[in-house]
Amino acid sequence: MMAADRAVPEVPLSLSANVVGSFAYLTIRDRLPTILTKVIDTIHRNKNKFFEEYGEEGVQAEKATISLLSKLRNELQTDKTVLLLTDGLADADSWNQYLRRQQDQQDPVSWFRSQWLYVECYMYRRIQEALWLNPPISDFDVFNEGKTQSFFESQQAVIALCTYLQDVNTNMGKLSKDQLQEQFHKLLQVSLWGNKCDLSISAGQENSQKASPIDSLSNLQPFILVDNSDMVLSALVSAQKPEQPGKTRVDIVLDNAGFELVTDLVLADFLVTSGLAHKVCFHGKSIPWFVSDVTANDFRWTIRQTMAANHKWMSKSGYEWQSYVREGVWSYHDHPFWTLPHEFCDMPVDAPDLYATLQGADLILFKGDLNYRKLTGDRYWDHTISFNTALRGFGPAPLCSLRTLKANVQVGLQPGQGEKLSSKDPDWMTNGKYAVIQFHSPHSEQ
Ligand code: F6P
Ligand code: MG
Repeated sequence: MMAADRAVPEVPLSLSANVVGSFAYLTIRDRLPTILTKVIDTIHRNKNKFFEEYGEEGVQAEKATISLLSKLRNELQTDKTVLLLTDGLADADSWNQYLRRQQDQQDPVSWFRSQWLYVECYMYRRIQEALWLNPPISDFDVFNEGKTQSFFESQQAVIALCTYLQDVNTNMGKLSKDQLQEQFHKLLQVSLWGNKCDLSISAGQENSQKASPIDSLSNLQPFILVDNSDMVLSALVSAQKPEQPGKTRVDIVLDNAGFELVTDLVLADFLVTSGLAHKVCFHGKSIPWFVSDVTANDFRWTIRQTMAANHKWMSKSGYEWQSYVREGVWSYHDHPFWTLPHEFCDMPVDAPDLYATLQGADLILFKGDLNYRKLTGDRYWDHTISFNTALRGFGPAPLCSLRTLKANVQVGLQPGQGEKLSSKDPDWMTNGKYAVIQFHSPHSEQ
């Protein structure tokens, strides 16, 4: 969202370290209706497919879904009150409780007068409700076309990256400690910049990677505003336990499908091949989310497509990834909490099972902007407030955010750094040009 989309915060920006920041409010007039219109169009264009698969019942479901989505778009555009979910699905109670909590603080809770994070998440959940109420098309992923297109449009970059990975893997045994560290930094940055390629920031417009990702890294280096990658590496090195060899686990909380997912798989491959990690747990979304986020289907599809590629090193990478999954070295998980509107500091209470799972990791990589907003509560923090303060107690394990900036929240900067950026590039927080590699360990005092 553009900076101008957000209303003035209720509380001024400068907050002392122990004061909780004001919520980020925003008018959502522009991007969300555009996304909804595209969703409606996608469902309509697939009418024949529904007919072929389900006959007249499929066509009726298509009509009824479009009618619910048109109603949703009208509610959004005319600032109606946010409604309770009615589909009775497993997470509906959590959503409805969350709405009641909002209503205790503010009345009425309507589209333009609520927290941006909440209404944005709510829109994606309502899209899902419209589908779920209309079997037999309930499982249709309205964002699938865009995600697959983004993968195919990034083919050259994917090939370049897989070729690079296979070269590193082949020479792994010969790498000095310094060379190994250099590769770690490079592939961490590739995964970081992969986050430029999300589709919700472009309201579903094509946003793929064309250039060779490795060649771009040095030019992009000055745009990394906080670079804690040495701490990330140290966390991994100190997690290697001589008494328990082969036990280091990295969790990657995924963001977008398409090119970004490939960069994450390449990083995960490197972590395993180099011995820095022995297990990688990927966490994705259980419903289509924020246009381009990874679901289980996207995860499997991407590995299959990589295997099937007509390019030796790309296909070899795909086969390796498939065997990591088969052998349990890699695993994919989803949990309803990732598609709730809650900030992550709510996790110990609202999703204690997920929190306990994450506590088993030696390092958690949180990909992307939305995860950063949820880590920091999406508030107008003073830019110099520490990441630790903004996390407000969330810290199941050492964690790192790999995020390109697309929303008006940024913490952990040096005094004056934010001001300098604002005078040079007023849209620095939202234009996706800048990034952070921001680390926090619950074991260290910060
Ligand atoms: O800028 C629009 C937006 O939907 C933000 O609300 C959201 O934080 C971001 O795009 C999604 O980006 P990412 O895919 O990096 O989480
Ligand atoms: Mg995303």
